[in-house]
This record gives sequence, C-alpha cells and structure tokens, in this order.
Amino acid sequence: MLLIDNDGVSLRNTRYGDVYRSVSGCLQESEWVFVEPAWQMIERLASHGRTQFHVLELGFGLGFNLSVFLDRWLKRAKPSWRCYVQSIELHPLGLDEYRRAWAAVAGPPATELVERWLHCFDADGAYALPGIHRYALHSNFWFDFFVADVSKALKRLHTSFDIVFLDGFSEAANPSMWRSEVFRDLRRHLYEGALLLSYASAKSLRDRLSALEFDVSREPGFPPKRFRLEARYRPYRRIKPFCPKPAVEDLMIIGAGLAGQCMALAARARGIQGVLIDAKLQQDCDSQAHLPAFLEHLHCSPDDNEMARLSRAALLSSYRLGSAQGSQGLSPLVSCRLQLLYRSEARAEWAKRLNALLAHSEASFNPWPALFQVLDEYRLCLPRSRAMALPNQLAFPQRQAFVARLDLHDGRWQAFDESGQLIASAATMVLTSPQALVKLGFNHAMPLQRKPGVSLLIDISSVDPLHPVWQIKSILADQQHVLRLAAPDRLLVGSLYGEPNDIEARSSLLDALQALLAMDASLFDVLSNAPSVLWRGVRFNAPDHLPMIGAIADRHQVGEQWERLRKNARLPMPRLEQAYTLTALGARGALWAPFGAEILLDMMQSIPCPLEADLLAAIDPARGLIRAMRRGEPLSGTIGHL
Ligand SMILES: Cc1cc2nc3c(=O)[nH]c(=O)nc-3n(C[C@H](O)[C@H](O)[C@H](O)COP(=O)(O)OP(=O)(O)OC[C@H]3O[C@@H](n4cnc5c(N)ncnc54)[C@H](O)[C@@H]3O)c2cc1C
Ligand SMILES: C[S@@+](CC[C@H](N)C(=O)[O-])C[C@H]1O[C@@H](n2cnc3c(N)ncnc32)[C@H](O)[C@@H]1O
Repeated sequence: MLLIDNDGVSLRNTRYGDVYRSVSGCLQESEWVFVEPAWQMIERLASHGRTQFHVLELGFGLGFNLSVFLDRWLKRAKPSWRCYVQSIELHPLGLDEYRRAWAAVAGPPATELVERWLHCFDADGAYALPGIHRYALHSNFWFDFFVADVSKALKRLHTSFDIVFLDGFSEAANPSMWRSEVFRDLRRHLYEGALLLSYASAKSLRDRLSALEFDVSREPGFPPKRFRLEARYRPYRRIKPFCPKPAVEDLMIIGAGLAGQCMALAARARGIQGVLIDAKLQQDCDSQAHLPAFLEHLHCSPDDNEMARLSRAALLSSYRLGSAQGSQGLSPLVSCRLQLLYRSEARAEWAKRLNALLAHSEASFNPWPALFQVLDEYRLCLPRSRAMALPNQLAFPQRQAFVARLDLHDGRWQAFDESGQLIASAATMVLTSPQALVKLGFNHAMPLQRKPGVSLLIDISSVDPLHPVWQIKSILADQQHVLRLAAPDRLLVGSLYGEPNDIEARSSLLDALQALLAMDASLFDVLSNAPSVLWRGVRFNAPDHLPMIGAIADRHQVGEQWERLRKNARLPMPRLEQAYTLTALGARGALWAPFGAEILLDMMQSIPCPLEADLLAAIDPARGLIRAMRRGEPLSGTIGHL
C-alpha cells in the first residue's frame, strides 16, 4: 500500500493515489501545520490552569504528527502535565512499511522519533485489529491507536478533545474524511474553543465549518501551500468544561478474590495505597483459596458483537501491560497456545467466520492470525492464550472481616462489620464481590445468575517420564479443557457447570480428558488412577454475560430524578461519589479482572478509557437501571438480587 516514489521524493499511498508527504520537509510540515499551533493552544490552556490535554487526529498515516508532537511534549511539557492523544486510522500499515517510510525520510534522528511508538506496536500485527489499542508512550503521555473508519469512530468516541488534527489526504482523493456529517459528529466531542488544524483550507471546507459554528481562519501554509487552516469551535450553547476528579488518596477494595486482587495490584502499580477487605483469608495465606490456574482467552471469538470486541480489547490490553511492566494482576504461569479441537458442528461455524476474516482485511496485511490460526480442518489455535495464577502475595494488606454496611461520611467511605464496628475507611471504594454488591444494596435492576462449577486436579508427579502426558505443551480445549501445570506437576481438567456429586464430577471430567488426549486405554489408566482432588466454585453472571465495570449509580438521586431521566436519555445517570464496582466476571475472571482494574483506575484518574462508548455502556453497572428506565418500568422494581 505504501509506495516510495522512484526518485525518493514522495511517499505515496496506492489505495488513495495520494501522497502522504514529500520526503524532504515532512517533519517540518507536521511542525508548522499541526504541532506548533497545537502547542500554543496547550500553553494557552495551561495559563488558565489546565494540566491535562486531549488531542484527536483523523488519519494516523505514517505517524509524523504523533512523532513530532511527542518530541515536543518530551522536551517542553511540565512534569505535572498529562496528555492523551487518540489517532483514528482505517488502514494500518505493516511494521516494515512504517520503517521503510521513515528510513526514506532521514537518518538516525528520524529513527529515534518513530521508534518511540513503533517499538510498542505488537510484532505479530495485533495492533492492526479493529478497535482501540492503548500505548503509554511516557509516564504522562497516552496514545490510543484507534483502528476504525472515521465516520464510525466519531459515533463511538466517549471523550472530548481540545485539539484536532484533520489529516486525511486531499478532499479530491478521499472525500469521506471531509463531509459535513463527519464534522457534525466531531462537534459532539469538542470542548468549547477546541482548535481544528489542517493543511487544507479550501473555501468550501471553510464554509462547511463556519456553518457548523466554527470560527475559521487561514494562516500562512507550509510551502508550496499558501495557507493552512485554523478553526475554533464556538457553539451557541454552553458545553461542560473539562473537570478532572480529585486525585485518588486511598482505596478500599471489598472482596479479595481474583477481581479484588487484580484491582489492588493495578492500583499499587499506579502508586495508590489501600486496603483489601474479605471475610476469607486470601492467597498469600491460603493456597486453596482459588483455582491454581485461570485460562485467559478461552472464549475469544472473531465476531464483531460487543462481547467479541470487549474480549479482544481485554486480551490485548493485558498482553500489552504484561509485556511492558509485568502483569498488572495475574502472573503468567504458562504462556502457551490454546488448541481448540472441534469435533462438533461448531467447527463448521468457526471455519466460516474465520475464513471470512482471513480473506479480507482493511490493513495492508491480515492481522487476524495474531489471534486465530486455523491449524487444520479439526483444529484451531489461539496463539495468545495463557494460563495465569494469582501472585503469592497480596498487593494491599488484608483486613479479614465481613462488610455488613457501607456509609459515605465527610467524603470518605466507611465499612462496618455486623456488630457495627468500623473496619476501614477510604476516599474511594471498589466493590469486587458479587454477593457484597447485592447484600449492601448497590446492585440495581441486574439480577445476578449463580453458576456453580467444578474442576479436577490430577497429581502427575509420579507418572513415568516417558508417558505422553509430559508432551502436552498447549492448552487443549473442546467443551472442557486440559492444561499441564509445573511445580508441582499437575493436570488441570476443567470445568463442569452445575453441582454434580463427586463421583459424577470425577467421571465426567475423566471422560473429557480421555477425549481430549485421545490416548491408549492403558496409558490413560495411569492418569485416571493417579491421586486427584476436585475444586468447586461459583461463577456470577449478569443476564447479558458481560461484566459490571464502572461507577455505581446513586439510587437515591436516580429515584428523585427518575421522570426527568426517563424523558431525556442524554442526561447523565447520577453516580455515587468515588464508588465503583468490578464484578460479575462469570467464567472469564482472568480476562476481565486485570482489564477492569485498568478501566476503573482510568475513570478514577480522569484518563479517557481505552474503550469505545458503546462498549463502556455495555459493561456499565448501571445498565440495568438505564434499560428499566427506557422500558418505562417503575424504580421500585429495580433492586438487583442473586
Ligand atoms: C470451576 C471453575 C473454573 C473456572 N475456570 C476459569 C478459567 O479457567 N478462567 C477464568 O478466567 N475464569 C475461570 N473461572 C471463573 C473465575 O473463577 C471467576 O470469574 C473469578 O474467580 C471471580 O472472582 P471475583 O473476585 O469476582 O469473585 P470471588 O472470587 O467470589 O471473590 C469475592 C470475594 O468477596 C468476599 N466477600 C463476599 N461478600 C463479602 C462481604 N460482605 N464482606 C467481605 N468480603 C466479602 C468473598 O469471601 C470472596 O473472597 C472458573 C470458575 C469456576 C467455578
Ligand atoms: C495523509 S495520511 C495522514 C498523515 C498522518 N497524520 C501523519 O502524520 O503521518 C491520511 C490517512 O488517513 C487514513 N484514512 C483515509 N480515510 C480514512 C477513513 N475513512 N477513516 C480512517 N482513516 C482514514 C489513510 O489510510 C491515511 O493513512
């Protein structure tokens, strides 16, 4: 897709038949048209007390603007400032194409500029999958690479911006980027006075922007262009200004299971202190408190529904964090491929969906094999799967107590036990227990489903070293799965739904194991006669099977405003002060818990979340209330239960 003209003069995109930039002067053009005016805007905002800045780019291209802007940021930003840049791109290039383009630009200084972001892009091409990919390029600089069509992306953004770079090829080559509808959608994501910048300044464009409440001006352009464009958004109605939340002082997490522990780990990694409260003693004291391994990615699917998009976002986020700084929650126990052995009709369904994806891609290469590879007619491989375990030590100290009541007093959450004794208090609170969410009265219109289950752990430490069990290197899965764990050597066979008695559970799981391993009877007998234990647990699900991640609704305020809220879907749902939940993880705790923790911390710290608005709404703990309201139900019917 990328073509460097023979004379080495320009970088051309063959899909659009237009040039990105001329080779000489491309970085200076970025500086002149976008970065310098953007920087002046940032300094102006800073002089009015702002310390956080949001920049949006339509058309990432070769990342010239990002590179030059980041360079300026690293040299000139004050330590207390924070920047969030999102860039939308429909046609990501391959890593080699980015490198080739930058090599044509200039020598070592250019390499340094591009590698600041390019080295973060996944080597297997997963950065080019549809959706938002977040990269922390510096401690105070986040970059979201949003792979999507601009017109769709602008409908799904959930944050507002101070500065916008309009950089989508010429209107003649790419009219879709310059339509009034694009600017109309863009307006919904702008702060008052937001600055639009572009090299394009044709009269028709200026007229369209003026009609949409922009003050437009032409400024001297980068030669050979005579002009560049600056447009400021000056709407007639007032828009809510950027208003960051106060810094999180301390955190109280109720429930120290998988979700609570991931929350504490992620918070500690961001320098936040706190306490974990759980009635049961947890991991660092009791090795039997949890399953020894949680599989991640078992349910990832290639579809484009909310569940599939969220699963991909969670999976990619945890890999990115895992590779950048060590996992924010679970520690990788076995990083391995997961082979799905489809002996059923599901196989044909999967094959159809995958073939469709593998045949077509918007990127200049196909990024889908990074997540799904067809091995043969019977086997599918999910290369990024892994088995994870909770670390041996809790990230926050634990108070062993049962929380019976929560109060907000003088801006601090207080937790009390059944005898009314204060257990702990903190400015911010996260509920990570489904039972506690319900019992304490914070679950609304979301009846949680309780799904018990059981797994089998087989001790293989005394199995002959020549036995084929030692050859198991990936997770094998069909309806059930098997995984070999080391230190101590065990097989984890999981998992059944329901509450079969011990004899039934052991027999079903051994049958599943035999089907997965397809071993001779005598070899299999060695495993089925080895010592084993059953592990039982409960999965809690929302009816839509999506997790509950976000700020908790203020039921009292919602009640007072019920009629108003019902009539106007645009009004924000009232939320409790500094109260969040991360729960209803169902059978995907390993996928949702570390991801949910990052989402909640972003919300607490006023950092835009790396999710599209419809996905944030899909996991909103208040979605049950919102739906009840839309259906015209009375508030009285909205108490959630188990
Ligand atoms: C058999 C089986 C196999 C599974 N396999 C996998 C897998 O391979 N991969 C995967 O991703 N997921 C798997 N899961 C799902 C996963 O185990 C769950 O999603 C996850 O454990 C849920 O964690 P949690 O922290 O939300 O809840 P919990 O682990 O239930 O933690 C909640 C904690 O809150 C505490 N608590 C409750 N009420 C109060 C209160 N009032 N005060 C104080 N403390 C309170 C409880 O003591 C508990 O420790 C499996 C589940 C089962 C049952
Ligand atoms: C001129 S380039 C952008 C240059 C870039 N800003 C830089 O600094 O290198 C325009 C980009 O817009 C992308 N693009 C074109 N139409 C698009 C659309 N409808 N949605 C998203 N991106 C689009 C193209 O693939 C191309 O990469």
